[in-house]
Amino acid sequence: MSRIAVLVPGKMHERVLARLKDGFDVIEADATTLDTETAQRIRGVAVSGTFNAAAIDALPKLEVIASFGVGYDNVDAKHAATKGVVVTNTPDVLNDEVADTAIGLLLNTIREFPRAENWLRDGNWKPGTGYPLSRFSLKGRHVGFYGLGRIGQEIARRLEPFKVKISYHTRSRNDALAYDYYPTLEGLADAVDTMIAIVPKTPQTHKTVNADILKALGPDGVFVNVGRGWTVDEEALAAALSSGALGAAGLDVFYDEPNVPAALMALPNAVLTPHLASGSVPTRNAMADLVVDNLLGWFESGKPLTPVAETPVKG
Ligand code: GLV
Repeated sequence: MSRIAVLVPGKMHERVLARLKDGFDVIEADATTLDTETAQRIRGVAVSGTFNAAAIDALPKLEVIASFGVGYDNVDAKHAATKGVVVTNTPDVLNDEVADTAIGLLLNTIREFPRAENWLRDGNWKPGTGYPLSRFSLKGRHVGFYGLGRIGQEIARRLEPFKVKISYHTRSRNDALAYDYYPTLEGLADAVDTMIAIVPKTPQTHKTVNADILKALGPDGVFVNVGRGWTVDEEALAAALSSGALGAAGLDVFYDEPNVPAALMALPNAVLTPHLASGSVPTRNAMADLVVDNLLGWFESGKPLTPVAETPVKG
């Protein structure tokens, strides 16, 4: 019997490719450039970049799209749903890694560890000298979470031993959590001095962290983003950091990756990392395995492990 054909458009983790090649006919190409016969054979897709409505429409026999990553804004899941195509993502296996990274980024931002290391490496540490005291401390801060889903909760749990106060804003209150809830982002920003954003890219989150929110965090305020750059007005952020309206920012995600605005690059009070929150070998391997296991689950039993909310699969 001929193997099921799976399309892999664009760059993909090598473990996904290696495992897929064991059981599937893997076609590495863009959906919209395939000849009709090949397009007719594709029943699955494994993707880590964009897979839009046109790509879905180009594959008439498509059944499942396995997306690499927990955020799946790269895939048009609503369009997939209208076509009866299941979309899967890779939740949970990256929660710990992203939460660990968020804590590291927060500490780096507040205590300036990257700048201090550069200072040392540049040969500045001489007898009688010392790196200047950091202006900020994590001690006594009030941390507000913009988004408190599975990853946000892991970050919050890690922050508890730091003895900071924790509050949050999400669309609806989570009664299982003891943290203070704010029904608006403005209300949260007024109350806290530190904000961690961990919300997905949706029409509702676009540039919601704007000049007013940053001003409310204040001159001693710290903003950390490990969700999506989409959520932030980067011009307003650079202006607030530059004028001192906001104290410091730690950013792992940007509006137009990999293009980081020069205005942010120039700021000493911004810590910038290249979207690496889940980027360890073990965690990316686990994500790769989940991409493949979702495809195997679908084709072996009609049960993918982690379908997204837009395309639920009856268990
Ligand atoms: C990373 O940003 C992911 O969505 O997994």
